Amino acid sequence: MPDRVVDAIVNHTILESQIGGYEAQARQSVALDQVYDTVAGHIGAKRHEIALMENATVAWCHAFYALPLKAKSRILTCEAEYAANYVAFLHRAKRDDLIIEVVPSDATGALDVAALEATMDENVGLVAITWIPTNGGLVNPAADVGKVARKYNVPYLLDACQAVGQMRTDVETLGCDFLSATGRKFLRGPRGTGFLYVRDHWLETLEPAMIDHFGAPWTARDRYQLREDARRFETWENSYALRAGLGAAIEYADTIGIDKIEARVSHLAGFCREQLRQNSKINLRDIGNHHCAIVSFTADGANPADIVDKMGKAGFVLGTSCASSTRLDAERRKLPTMLRIAPHYYNTEEEIFRAIEQLVKCL
Ligand SMILES: Cc1ncc(COP(=O)(O)O)c(C=O)c1O
Repeated sequence: MPDRVVDAIVNHTILESQIGGYEAQARQSVALDQVYDTVAGHIGAKRHEIALMENATVAWCHAFYALPLKAKSRILTCEAEYAANYVAFLHRAKRDDLIIEVVPSDATGALDVAALEATMDENVGLVAITWIPTNGGLVNPAADVGKVARKYNVPYLLDACQAVGQMRTDVETLGCDFLSATGRKFLRGPRGTGFLYVRDHWLETLEPAMIDHFGAPWTARDRYQLREDARRFETWENSYALRAGLGAAIEYADTIGIDKIEARVSHLAGFCREQLRQNSKINLRDIGNHHCAIVSFTADGANPADIVDKMGKAGFVLGTSCASSTRLDAERRKLPTMLRIAPHYYNTEEEIFRAIEQLVKCL
């Protein structure tokens, strides 16, 4: 997190400790309210289409579980779908008698938009895909998927968790009805933050799967009134310190400029891939034609957990992606646990060079 994000969180927490939680919220109400404009501005939405959430998963689930889907409706998804989303498909498929169908990937490994279009019919109740999967550099053609969903008038739920903060995210271009994202990844915000975008025409009809007296004030003994905005998906109690941090993180990204960020991370990830290719023991595992700043690879004979540990001791932070987080893709490609390097704009070519030099020593 940038210093100003940490400051925003810490300052709000200190204020709470000095004057109390309710009072701190009241004193900071204008700035806290501004976070909705900041999020909306960052993704080309309107402020009433934004709900602030505690993570991307909860945001995604709120949209998914609110959607009315009649029995035998088809849910179309992608091979790189994220585990949390897929288990929710399984859950609703069992509960509501729905059919999950996985749109095949094209020869490059990205979702095949022509195959998606070919399978559309009146029984499709939802198109729900992950834009950038958890296990690598693939960037699915989210905007092309949006065009198909719109053409057939099918709701489109986009998991943009790993895209927001590393590439331009514009809900009009994407054509999505719902979008979920996290604060803690490329936005450099705090853990425990996320947001949900709900296209405004859905707000007229969509009942949250669960409500409280914030999202739906108790207006008479036998009645509640849903809020008119996307905040009907929120609850009364929240971490305002973390919200302040999320707002500061997005403002920080906007100050740098998302196009500049995208160009820089894409350059650094390209450099990283180039360096990794130099070693014959390393196998890049990224699929698709369009790659993002998440570089995934395996190394012959190496135990990923050991590598992460050794690299950590040497001062380099690597991640791993296990098969069960993107099971369909992992099974199809017979992927073991992979290693993951994800440079951000503050990294340098030299740091990446040194990281890979160190990595090679660990093999
Ligand atoms: C593709 C994808 N979607 C959603 C999530 C969940 O995000 P959060 O941890 O904010 O719930 C992740 C986290 O790794 C992810 O990779």
